[in-house]
Amino acid sequence: MKAVILAGGTGSRLMPLTSYINKHMLPVGKHPMIHHGIQSLQKAGIQDILIITNRQSAGMFIQYFGSGHQMKMSLAYRIQEEAAGIADALQLARPFINDGEKFLVLLGDNLFDEDLTPYVEDFQKQAEGAMVLLKQVDDPRRYGVPVFSPSGTILHIEEKPAEPESDLSVTGLYMYSTDVFQHIENISPSSRGELEITDLNNLYAAAGLLTYREISGWWIDAGTFESLREASARYWDKEY
Ligand code: G1P
Repeated sequence: MKAVILAGGTGSRLMPLTSYINKHMLPVGKHPMIHHGIQSLQKAGIQDILIITNRQSAGMFIQYFGSGHQMKMSLAYRIQEEAAGIADALQLARPFINDGEKFLVLLGDNLFDEDLTPYVEDFQKQAEGAMVLLKQVDDPRRYGVPVFSPSGTILHIEEKPAEPESDLSVTGLYMYSTDVFQHIENISPSSRGELEITDLNNLYAAAGLLTYREISGWWIDAGTFESLREASARYWDKEY
């Protein structure tokens, strides 16, 4: 399976560090943050990755990873000219994915401890729709939170709800087929003017086609100072 890593954005919650460096290139342990995500995907059998970033940062990614040759990966790059949302960035992956092909999307600040192979394999077997990974968290108000039907299917995802319906968060790892590109055309910009990944996933949820797996290992969205510090501590232990 191919993967797309979204690594643009402004990183506003990590200012002032992100005034001069892309969030995904901040050090986490011995490596830049995004290096760990790439390694997790590699472990799950993925070798072909498209990194979508912005004009200001592309040079730094290329300087660090190049073609991916040293990591025995194939890396390609595309530029999102304006920060118009995660789903907007995802549209740029259209030429990278063959018709009908399944692929994985990872937000570059998401770090996973566990082996992602079983989830990738499960999605390969799924006939249609999309899959998300969920994780139990202390403060779901920071994330997308699923609302379940009595039978346990996802009816809807609420983005950063003030009163979350559960203590599960939707992580930044999504699996789709190429029908996702048609769905992106059917969503509209949110109140902050961006095409939101949650609105996209809610199209699948409304059709009863959003499956999920709950993960047990640690998961970190390293987009805040507190979580960046936790991520550094985790990888510090792992790498030294
Ligand atoms: C995004 C998604 C959110 C998800 C989170 C995971 O939020 O919109 O649903 O739970 O990633 O990292 P962001 O971190 O961009 O605010």
